[in-house]
Amino acid sequence: MSYKDDTRRFVVKENPIILGIETSCDETAVAITKGGREILADEIISSATEHAKFGGVVPEIASRAHTEAILTASEIALKHSGLSMGDIDAVAVTKGAGLLGALLVGVSFAKALAFSYDVPLVPVSHIRGHIAAAYLTDKYLQPPFITILASGGHTAIVKVKSFYEHEILGQTVDDAVGEAFDKVARVLGLKYPGGPNVERLALSGKNVIKLPKMLGNNYQGSEFDFSYSGLKTAVINYVHSETQKGKEIVGADVACSFQHAAIDVLIDKAFKALKISGYNTLAVSGGVGANGYLRETLKTRAEKVKIKLVLPEKRHCTDNAAMICAEGYLQYKAGNFADLSLNAQAVVEIL
Ligand code: KG4
Ligand code: ZN
Repeated sequence: MSYKDDTRRFVVKENPIILGIETSCDETAVAITKGGREILADEIISSATEHAKFGGVVPEIASRAHTEAILTASEIALKHSGLSMGDIDAVAVTKGAGLLGALLVGVSFAKALAFSYDVPLVPVSHIRGHIAAAYLTDKYLQPPFITILASGGHTAIVKVKSFYEHEILGQTVDDAVGEAFDKVARVLGLKYPGGPNVERLALSGKNVIKLPKMLGNNYQGSEFDFSYSGLKTAVINYVHSETQKGKEIVGADVACSFQHAAIDVLIDKAFKALKISGYNTLAVSGGVGANGYLRETLKTRAEKVKIKLVLPEKRHCTDNAAMICAEGYLQYKAGNFADLSLNAQAVVEIL
């Protein structure tokens, strides 16, 4: 019988060793975990510097870089874990969302490994992976909790009701918060990746530029929704109109004012969600979760109202494979295995 016809024959182990692969954007990442939360290896080879001169990720370059790095990243991960492929119980891989060509490298590689070593192939949603990074941070964390999902592609306040049940309380109606950081970085002449560079510049600035309030009083949707397109445009318009008037722009003040406007609303809505749900744990997920202003403000507010805060390490906020192992473990336990017809998906349901 072929691998394709018989994925249900695999026995689900108690503490599986999972090799996770993430190639949705510009990070080629391979990690190995035991039982989902114990990290044995956690490797990332980034092609970010290759994209910097173009001001953003170039899909073709990303795909080629993944092809070149995936084997090396896997070999290093195995070496660091002290294991060999024979010890691996399952291969988890990001199936989407992301750049199709980039995802295909990881999916094809994962299929080849799963087939060759005859272990289950576990497809993982990148978005759920980000949320599952919280389980790496707090080894005993159990749902329910609220998470702020804030990445380059998604922005939402999510109620994590159980390991498998999520509810989106609200989400962006246009741009994602990370996308806004990247676009503001560009107008300020900062290099890709924009988020960390805006954060750095904001450190020496003041929150003095008035920016419009997000979603006015007449907005009919969820009170947990966001809109970053207007904020981004307001910043761009400010920079252009001041330049036209011949005024000097204080980039640090623009960065700081934008950062406040973009982040404060995430925090306010998250705390409102905690209050309404009655949950007492808040987690952060996605690349913007690495933002120092967000992290420090959350710590202060969480302490004040005695909320338990789960802040994944910065490397587990941005794209990584350990989070794919963490979510892969949950899917493995549920027996959600794919056969070799698994395909990459540029877009997946947010949850
Ligand atoms: O989660 P992620 O690594 O990839 C996606 O799934 O999108 O998020 C990337 C986004 C980028 O927009 C990047 O600018 C933003 O996260 N980001 C940050 C910071 N680090 C990464 N934004 C603000 N402050 C940061 N320190
Ligand atoms: Zn991501």
